[in-house]
Amino acid sequence: MIQCSVALASAVAFLAMAYPLFDRMPHPYDGVRAVEISLEMQTVINRVGSPFAFDPPFDRNERLRSATRLFEGQIHGSESVAVRPNGELVMLDKFGYLHRAHPDTNELYVLNASALYIGPGRPLGFHVVDQGAALFVCDSLKGLVRVELDGPRRGDISILANSVEGRGPISYANDLSVAANGTVYFTSSTEGVVALNAPLGFYDTMASYMLNAVRGDMTGRLLAYDPTTRQTRELMDGLFYANGVAVAPDQSFVAVVETSAYRVQRYWLTGPRSGDVDTLVEGLPGAPDGITVASDGNFWLSLIVPASPIMKYLGPYRWIRQLLSHALHILSPLVAKRWGCVVKISPAGRVIDVLYDPDGERVSMVSAVTEHEGRLFLGNLGGSFVSVLDL
Ligand SMILES: *[C@@H]1O[C@H](CO)[C@@H](O)[C@H](O)[C@H]1NC(C)=O
Ligand SMILES: *[C@@H]1O[C@H](CO)[C@@H](O)[C@H](O)[C@H]1NC(C)=O
Repeated sequence: MIQCSVALASAVAFLAMAYPLFDRMPHPYDGVRAVEISLEMQTVINRVGSPFAFDPPFDRNERLRSATRLFEGQIHGSESVAVRPNGELVMLDKFGYLHRAHPDTNELYVLNASALYIGPGRPLGFHVVDQGAALFVCDSLKGLVRVELDGPRRGDISILANSVEGRGPISYANDLSVAANGTVYFTSSTEGVVALNAPLGFYDTMASYMLNAVRGDMTGRLLAYDPTTRQTRELMDGLFYANGVAVAPDQSFVAVVETSAYRVQRYWLTGPRSGDVDTLVEGLPGAPDGITVASDGNFWLSLIVPASPIMKYLGPYRWIRQLLSHALHILSPLVAKRWGCVVKISPAGRVIDVLYDPDGERVSMVSAVTEHEGRLFLGNLGGSFVSVLDL
């Protein structure tokens, strides 16, 4: 009888302790629960791997292993590398410091020891504008930001867009691309916020991305900032972690990465399909992150980690996903495998080329690629370096 009561009491105590795990997600998603993932989206997720599986030429190669690491131990988690017309490199690390490096004849590049702080927040996608005079940055906390690089206003920051009229603040700006007519297309990954890794002092977008995926949070958006009216419009919503953005070289569409759906969408700007959305490429074998235009008019797409089977199997079970969210910090090293993968895709969505570092020996977690004068500059999420590859 006593044994029975103890067992019952223990069970009640356990359930009482575990109940909050069923009721809510961990920080910064506390207060919300995992949501249903539609059958349509589950079907999209289940297509993982297909564009490569049918293309024998894209067997795993080691071409990314020829990359050279730059500034090892000095630049931590620069999502991208921007190149100014004079060849100078600009990097923004995960702590919010802006670093510059100039090309040198003896060594490859020389890092300028004086870094500029533009934090707090996590700078994600960034590109040089105005012939290299400034940088447009998507900062997870601040929104779409302009940073002056030269002259007396060097280091000045102006916020171009941090809210959308009638829709409230932009909480998770991620990447941008400037069209020929000056319109800035940019994404907000989710209406949730970025997880702060307080002990290490940076905003952890990898943790945020995984929490967002297990929640089934489809609140990513494509936005457009018009520099003449200084207004920001919403073009797409309902994206499952909106990420990289690239305006097609012929200005006919904007490519928008939807990371947790393992696909890239196309938002049409011109022609009879103007305003319509279709799929550029889907079923990718890894989680796509950044997208940029290559010198030959195709796109460079970075896959940050191999596609995780978790969402394939747990998609329909939101309670399990919610429970799992409390263990993600333990499981994340299993998901965030060392792996390097950059894919070239045509504007018609055909996979043209794939560059791998199969076990991330030289480069892994590549988040964005910038092509400049026959070289690829690779930013990454997890490493303490950036890389350069001669094409
Ligand atoms: C490094 O940056 C500082 C501050 O902007 C600048 O004054 C200096 O000229 C730079 N050094 C080199 C070698 O470019
Ligand atoms: C730029 O082009 C886009 C897409 O065609 C259009 O919506 C926008 O109004 C244009 N902006 C300017 C300043 O011409």
